[in-house]
Amino acid sequence: MSSNRKVLPTWDKVGKHALFPEAKHDEIARFNFLANLNNHLSGQVLPGVKEAYEQNALPAFRAEHGREPESRHEVREMMKKQPFYQLWSALRRSTMECRQQAGRSLVLRQIDRINAAAAELNNGAETLVLNPETQIPDYVTVVDTHCMPGSYHTSVVEGDVSAGANYDSGLFVTTVGQLGSMTDGGGRAICDWLKKDHADFKPKRILDIGCTIGHNVVPIGQAFPDAEIIAIDVSAPVLRYGHARAKSLGVNNITFMQVNAEDLSQFADESFDLITTSMVLHELSAQSMPKILSEISRLLVPGGLSLHLEQPQYSGRPVFEQFIRDWDTWNNNEPFWGAMHDVDLVGMIDSTGLPSDLQFSAAVTAKVDESIFPKTETGDKTEDYGRAAAWNVFGAWKPAEAAKQESVA
Ligand SMILES: C[S@@+](CC[C@H](N)C(=O)[O-])C[C@H]1O[C@@H](n2cnc3c(N)ncnc32)[C@H](O)[C@@H]1O
Repeated sequence: MSSNRKVLPTWDKVGKHALFPEAKHDEIARFNFLANLNNHLSGQVLPGVKEAYEQNALPAFRAEHGREPESRHEVREMMKKQPFYQLWSALRRSTMECRQQAGRSLVLRQIDRINAAAAELNNGAETLVLNPETQIPDYVTVVDTHCMPGSYHTSVVEGDVSAGANYDSGLFVTTVGQLGSMTDGGGRAICDWLKKDHADFKPKRILDIGCTIGHNVVPIGQAFPDAEIIAIDVSAPVLRYGHARAKSLGVNNITFMQVNAEDLSQFADESFDLITTSMVLHELSAQSMPKILSEISRLLVPGGLSLHLEQPQYSGRPVFEQFIRDWDTWNNNEPFWGAMHDVDLVGMIDSTGLPSDLQFSAAVTAKVDESIFPKTETGDKTEDYGRAAAWNVFGAWKPAEAAKQESVA
């Protein structure tokens, strides 16, 4: 019975739309193989890494130093020499390289069709605003983020959307369906949390920063159909794709704009009710993150909400867990991952004028998508065998006008 429950959704269950790359039998098989290998590595091989730590590395460390390791960095130094860790790590990196190359070749062989489909949906639309003068920051270009060839920003031909198409088609392989068929579990988790904990909050103007292809802002657009939504990113190829994707899904209340979030001076003070980032802060440099958070603070109306979705911070977790969570920093072209998960977020947000008593942090989980994790004949509850990703949502409410005046008095 339990083996039934472990059946993973296959790649062909990914939600389709007008731009989505078409895949042949072998391309689908390749994605499925990689998704299953990822799943095997995290479910069956990773426990062996912990065993290698507990049985080999840790006793040796204690014998040499006469104490417990104090940081993930010490754990990493000792684990780098453990053959079982080397095996797990090399395979994990390889699955990412293979996913990106598989996605890239899938997209490039039909790039003319995908670019033309995007152009048809984008041409003349006021809801796509590109600015070729936008400075792409070094921290976006310095590496091919999580091994994506050309990262988010590289266009290979004019009007290119290939970076977006590759991102869209491959994410399912890494997340193995946990984000749902439309890979929008993060945005849905944000909307569910707002509905559950802040049902009266009805934002009229929303800004999403670092939207990429809009996976997670589209559900926000659907949850607040009367709101005006602006989704910004520095990278043109993903914006072209994201705008066309939203249109083809029938979501028309989002304007996609090419803007560097470090300078949002084109937007007036106190002009947004809700400002979101999903899985963005960990890709920002240490210098840019406080700048962007300060811009958010400036742009919020009094009583407005800033809300960020990320993996949980490291603080308070066992050093071995921190070391595993930090794998991406060293092996997955995510150079800012570890530094961001170390930052004192409360202190940093506080320093932008959003005080700690108005901040929040909550664990949220995406809903299991029953369209890709169908109920079994046993009649068990979906939660028993489906899978959904878990995150941390955190942020702050901007002091309302009355409270601000009180504190000035
Ligand atoms: C991990 S992706 C975000 C994923 C997306 N929010 C989602 O939910 O699927 C990070 C994005 O942030 C963008 N980005 C990085 N720095 C930026 C900046 N300073 N201003 C605007 N966008 C930025 C990148 O181009 C990239 O598309």
